[in-house]
Amino acid sequence: MKILMTGGAGYLGSILTPTLLAQSHEVTVLDNFYFHPNSLLDCCQYEKFQVVRGDCREESVVKPLLARADLIIPLAALVGVPLCNTDAIATRTTNQDAVEMLCRMAGKQQRIIIPVTNSGYGIGEKGKFCTEETPLRPISTYGVTKVKAEEAVLARENSISFRLATVFGMSPRMRIDLLVNDFVYRAVHDRAVLVFEGHFKRNYIHVRDVARVFMHGMANFDKMKGRAYNVGLDDANLSKLELCAVIKKYLPKFVFVEAPIGEDPDKRDYIVSNARLAGTGFKPEWSLDRGIQELIKGFTILRNSIYSNI
Ligand SMILES: NC(=O)c1ccc[n+]([C@@H]2O[C@H](COP(=O)([O-])OP(=O)(O)OC[C@H]3O[C@@H](n4cnc5c(N)ncnc54)[C@H](O)[C@@H]3O)[C@@H](O)[C@H]2O)c1
Repeated sequence: MKILMTGGAGYLGSILTPTLLAQSHEVTVLDNFYFHPNSLLDCCQYEKFQVVRGDCREESVVKPLLARADLIIPLAALVGVPLCNTDAIATRTTNQDAVEMLCRMAGKQQRIIIPVTNSGYGIGEKGKFCTEETPLRPISTYGVTKVKAEEAVLARENSISFRLATVFGMSPRMRIDLLVNDFVYRAVHDRAVLVFEGHFKRNYIHVRDVARVFMHGMANFDKMKGRAYNVGLDDANLSKLELCAVIKKYLPKFVFVEAPIGEDPDKRDYIVSNARLAGTGFKPEWSLDRGIQELIKGFTILRNSIYSNI
């Protein structure tokens, strides 16, 4: 397939792009390289890889790229509540308006697969699994714009939305602001974490399983189109304190303490059912344990220490 991926240099895109190229798809990445990453350098060897430095909000940039695409994967976004809170206008124009523009400009036959966040489920009902039928009630600008983007995509034909759990795992464009990655990073380098809202439950999915779910959506498109799917690990609907306990299995000196030091701006406390996706034949390959062991190796290599002698 000929694929146009916006934001392909990011955390998810820099795993998904080489995965698609290795399967002989033609991939054009449009990214403004906001984080100055070198994440796609290894993709340049592929003849079927094209890269455009530009803004996904610019119609004149997107239009000619869109004309050639069978499938569009809009990843470009300001991701996460703290970043979105620094610039509400950039958040809305990138996360929502640019996706709505893609939907207006794409032909009916062109396919779209978009990832959104399941943080829109907000505070779940105790002990009750959120399904795709559970109302989305996002609170933050990040959550609201992602829900609006999903609405625009699912209002057209030939689209799939994946509602991702909190993603974890190593990627060439690494993010240590994601919960599991953050806790493992601190466990490796600080040996301690102060946890707020420790009993709030979240769910998780490995970045390579996210790449796999996109491939699964492409392979089963006709069967899956027109719907949203929760994407997470069934056996990892865990509270933050339970997550810390899993990390401690691999780093026994890790200490975690609960403290009233903050609150989640999206009030995420929910358990999620992934049954709809499982019903299409998808099975994740990366458990939380396997991902944590991968992250420990990764953070042995990476550390943020530009102003320190060690
Ligand atoms: N990582 C997660 O846990 C998670 C969970 C749910 C959904 N998602 C969604 O997946 C997508 C990718 O997330 P990620 O974790 O890879 O984030 P990321 O921040 O690593 O990547 C986003 C990419 O978009 C690019 N970008 C930003 N603004 C742009 C613009 N105006 N024009 C062109 N490119 C632009 C950035 O340069 C970056 O490469 C996002 O849509 C996000 O909402 C991620």
